Amino acid sequence: MPLSLAHQSLEELGGHSSVLARQRRDHAELDRLMRHCESTGPSRAERRATFQEIVRLTFSHAFAEETVLWPALRRLVPDGEELTARVEEEHQQINDLVAEILSTEPNGPWPERLVAEAFALIRQDIRDEEDVLLPRLQEALGHDAVRLRRLGSAWESVRRTAPTRPHPAVSRRPPGNALAGVPLSAVDRARDALSPLTGPRGRRLTTALTAAVLAACAVAALRHRRR
Ligand SMILES: [Fe+2]
Ligand SMILES: [Fe+2]
Repeated sequence: MPLSLAHQSLEELGGHSSVLARQRRDHAELDRLMRHCESTGPSRAERRATFQEIVRLTFSHAFAEETVLWPALRRLVPDGEELTARVEEEHQQINDLVAEILSTEPNGPWPERLVAEAFALIRQDIRDEEDVLLPRLQEALGHDAVRLRRLGSAWESVRRTAPTRPHPAVSRRPPGNALAGVPLSAVDRARDALSPLTGPRGRRLTTALTAAVLAACAVAALRHRRR
């Protein structure tokens, strides 16, 4: 049974820029943000702002996993299909829950039960990756630091330009997710930058914008399939 990333030194992970070290750093940051959100200290506004940060980090991180890491795992590991199907299912559940949380009234009561459910799933996803999937990927790459760093750079470049919000209707696998990723990322990052895009008017505008982008992606996917 390969050793969990949680119990490996930075050197064993392949160094600072290895995909395994990058994953573990993001997971630790997510854990810190979730604990802050759950603590009694922050005001309502601060809790919401921390939750938005968790959303941005979770979705860009997961999109890059689905685009770069899980296809590699399916190619390299005999039971990769089964392993990645499980985390894709977790990602889908997190997607649906976070979309539900973000659709609640911003000035209404804090959706504690839904947030607790989403955080439990994110923690489960982190454990599955650090204890099972990523050590299997490390093993399949022969613990080769150069290959782990190369994969780290590929994952990081996708993460930097990935969508930052939930899109439950978008495919979890390439090419569907990759085709939708670029335009959705533009919409998400515009929304992140334009914080006044909140409230019912903002949500209507964003829903219309996202629907237009998804329609464009569906057309692009059809063209891609016909080629
Ligand atoms: Fe991860
Ligand atoms: Fe994940």
